[in-house]
Amino acid sequence: MIQYKPVTGEFDLTGKTAVVTGGAGAIGLETARMYARKGANLVLVDVKDDVPQVAEDLEKEFGVRAIGVHADLTSQDDVENVVRETLKTFGEVHILANVAGRVDLDNAEDIDVRLVENQINVNAIGAFRLTQKIGQVMIEQGKGGKIVCVTSQAGFIAIDKHIGYTMSKAAMIGMIKVLALEWAEFGINVNGVAPTVVRTVLGERAWQGEVKERMLKAIPANRFAEADEIAAAILFLSCDESNMITGENLVIDGGFTIQ
Ligand SMILES: NC(=O)c1ccc[n+]([C@@H]2O[C@H](COP(=O)([O-])OP(=O)(O)OC[C@H]3O[C@@H](n4cnc5c(N)ncnc54)[C@H](O)[C@@H]3O)[C@@H](O)[C@H]2O)c1
Repeated sequence: MIQYKPVTGEFDLTGKTAVVTGGAGAIGLETARMYARKGANLVLVDVKDDVPQVAEDLEKEFGVRAIGVHADLTSQDDVENVVRETLKTFGEVHILANVAGRVDLDNAEDIDVRLVENQINVNAIGAFRLTQKIGQVMIEQGKGGKIVCVTSQAGFIAIDKHIGYTMSKAAMIGMIKVLALEWAEFGINVNGVAPTVVRTVLGERAWQGEVKERMLKAIPANRFAEADEIAAAILFLSCDESNMITGENLVIDGGFTIQ
């Protein structure tokens, strides 16, 4: 059962431990900052070498405890080490934000199949690899938990050159639904947020020149999203205010997919 807990609208995370993958990237870092502002301790997970430094900076800025664990989500050993380090430092884990991801664009007829595999390996299987391990810990703890995955609009509509990315994010959306169904009895909420283009390095790389202008015109809000807007939705889905929401994939697209 997912318990009802009276809430204040303050999105408080005091005393919680949150694991954020892609924590040294744009949306992951904004998510970590928002969690820290609400009092959560942090485990940042990233394949980037500077992830311990990013964690140290957050500790200084927000006065919470934070560690950075260098890990590649395609490695089972790395993922198990993330869980070990988390429990060694904090004893428990309450929130997982699956933010890490990669994108490689090409026409379906030309793309190297290895690039399709890589995207599925990181965005879908890599996310599941860690989610399974953290889910096992949450079930064992018996206190419920919150899992939020960053999917994409590309997970449910067709976008030119996005074949591998779409396959990976569609798989992630499927994963969210099955986990939400299976883990509700353990009090674990599993949800996603599905952004349109976000103004990050990853977003800018995929949307340049003429395709960028066309995309902007097709978004009723007439702009791309910002990383903090995505982080705010992740925060909402990570606290008790959203306890009755599970299996959802919240679209954050300025209206792009309404027509
Ligand atoms: N930026 C956009 O336009 C946009 C739109 C929709 C969805 N998304 C999704 O949002 C998430 C974050 O994207 P972002 O824009 O912040 O990009 P980003 O590149 O700034 O962040 C992604 C992070 O994931 C990390 N990462 C990649 N592969 C990894 C691996 N194998 N193991 C561990 N860490 C790994 C990277 O090092 C990076 O720090 C991604 O899942 C992306 O697919 C982004």
